[in-house]
Parts: sequence; C-alpha cells; structure tokens
Amino acid sequence: MNVINLEELKKISPFKWHNKIPPNGISLGVADVDFQGPDGIIDYITQNLKESHCYYQNQSGMPIGIQAAKKYLIGKNIDVNDSNIQIIPGTMIGIYAAMKFISQYNGTISMIGPIYEPIHKHAAQCGNRINWIPIINGTFDEEALKLSISDNTKMISICSPTNPIGHVYNMNQLKVIRDLCVDYNLICFSDELYEPLTYNQENIPIASLDGMTERVISLYGFSKAYGLAGFRSGFMFLGDIITEKIKDIINLQLVSPSPIASIVCDYALNDLRAKEWRRKFKQKMKENTSFAAQLFRKNGINCNIPDSCFFVFPNIETDDIVFSEELLLHKGVQVIPGSSFGPMGQNHLRINCATSTEILEEGLSRIIDHLNL
Ligand SMILES: Cc1ncc(COP(=O)(O)O)c(C=O)c1O
Repeated sequence: MNVINLEELKKISPFKWHNKIPPNGISLGVADVDFQGPDGIIDYITQNLKESHCYYQNQSGMPIGIQAAKKYLIGKNIDVNDSNIQIIPGTMIGIYAAMKFISQYNGTISMIGPIYEPIHKHAAQCGNRINWIPIINGTFDEEALKLSISDNTKMISICSPTNPIGHVYNMNQLKVIRDLCVDYNLICFSDELYEPLTYNQENIPIASLDGMTERVISLYGFSKAYGLAGFRSGFMFLGDIITEKIKDIINLQLVSPSPIASIVCDYALNDLRAKEWRRKFKQKMKENTSFAAQLFRKNGINCNIPDSCFFVFPNIETDDIVFSEELLLHKGVQVIPGSSFGPMGQNHLRINCATSTEILEEGLSRIIDHLNL
C-alpha cells in the first residue's frame, strides 16, 4: 500500500486532516484512509463519461452501475431485480432515506449498538424513537432485543460489520433478527458498507436469509474498502415492499445520481485493479487493527481485536469526550469519542487505524502516554 506523506495528506484530505490538528499532530479520527487509491480510476471515469451525460439520467442510476451492483448481490445469494437497486452518491444519503422512510410509520426502532453515529442521528432527527440493544464482547443481547420488540416496533437497525467495533453478525444472530422481523412484520435496516473488510469470516448479508429479501434496506459503498470516498458512490438494495417509497425520497434529493456514482460502482466491483487494492488494504488493516488492539491490551487497557472495519475501540474507563478533547489539546491526536456511537460507546475511543505503521505507532503511543498521566 502506498502511504501518502503527511504534508500531502493535509492538502488532499482536509476532512480527516483538518486544521484543528496542530502541525505535529496526528489524525486517527475521521474514517478516511491515508493510502493512495486504486490505480486507473481517473482513466476509467474519463473513458466512460459521455457528452450525453449533460442530461438527467435514470433516477435509479445508470445501467453500468445497476448491472454491476446486481451481479455483485447475486454473487452474495440475494434474489435481486434491477428495480431493487438504487445508485447513490455515498451511503450516507441511503441512511437518511431509510430513516425518513420509516418515520412515516408509528412505532419504535430497535437499534443494536454501538453503531455509526449518523444511523442513530438520522433516525432521531427524522422523529423516530430508538430502543437501544447492546453488543457486548462480540455478541448482542438477544433477550434484550426480543424484549424490545412489540406490536409497536417498526424496524430493527444494524450495521454489519459494525462501525465502530468491527463486529460481524454470525448466522445465528442474523436468524434471531430474521425471525423477529418476520414474526412482527418489521423492516430491517442493514448498513453493510464494511462488508468486504472482514478478517476471519465472510459477512452474511441479511437480505440473503429466507423471508428477508422483501423487507430489507441494505447499504453498500466504496468509501472504505475501495479507497474511493471522494467520488461519492454506493448503492442500496431495497426490498420489493419498500423500493418505490425510498426511491421517491432519494429522487426528491437528487433527481438522478451523477453518472460518476454509477461509473465508480462499476469500476469498484468489476475492475481487477480495484480488487487488488481491496485485497492489499484488507491485509494491512487486519495487521494494523490487531497490532493496535494488542498494544492496548499489553498496557492493561481492555480492547477487543476486531473482526472487521479499520478501527479499534478501547475501553478507557474515563469520560471519552473530555479525554478526546484533552488528547487533541495536549498530544495533538484526533480520535472520536465512543459515546458518539450511542450510549454503549461511553468511556471508549474510536481509533482509525487506516494509516501507515509509523503514524499509527506514534499516535497510539501518545494516546497510551496520555492515559497513563
Ligand atoms: C457504517 C458507515 N456507513 C456509512 C458511512 C458513510 O459513507 P459514505 O457516504 O462515504 O459511503 C460511513 C462512513 O464512515 C460508515 O462508517
């Protein structure tokens, strides 16, 4: 993996390497990656862009993107038609659309967390009430999930694999969710953005389970495992009973996605250079996350070795918001306070390991120094 040097990163990656980070500081915060992206992306986009793209395109996205997404989902044992797919400029808008859609119905969302902050924020801002179900030590509390469900529930929401803890839902856990969704006629929201980045087992898409295809909203994208965040591309798999309503919400925001979103989708899923980048990146992230988690453990700090994503989530047993602010102030290291990811994230830090070994080692050593003060 080609790491980009710090001076360059500060110019080309301003969201992660923002200007509150001091000159000798380190960003282990925003979930962008510090590596050069896959080869050939610019040529691929230029070769596929046409003058005719001056006009609004299909509202669901262009055939090049839809066919790539469809082939990919079929490969994951999901029963899919073209109409089940919506190309989107990044998965974030898919989260918003899902939460806006479900807000049209009365009832609560059972949300398994900690979970990526915008999922619970969009849910709440769209007026949905949330029942939190904790994942602790790699397993969610099945009894708590069952107890949270009633005739008043409308959705179960998961992020699989889970940002920030790298949890990959196993078949038994997915079946528990499936059975509840079917028995209570619930929608299931599943953000699977990190699914190519699993280290010990494949991610199983919940849409591939019997009885789920029609009631799932699943999200996929290219910002993480493919290193293509800036191009804003992803896609949604929408169950038959949901498709039209979600597409209405997306279309009211976008009219049609930019052709670039569809072209990038095709590149990421079909081009060999993208596949090779993904393979190398996954290996590097497996090493980095395992190294970081072991280092915390050696220093007596409780930290799981993640099965996916590129974060570690140590339990620092002190106020994570105060600690994160002081860490930036005194050590110049940016991390994300765990409580951003819901109440179970309190007293944790989310540390982004998608950087060079040198930067990671230096950042971790400053964090551990600060914890030892
Ligand atoms: C789980 C998850 N979903 C969605 C997003 C949004 O990604 P994007 O809109 O770049 O595809 C992120 C970004 O960090 C994420 O971690």
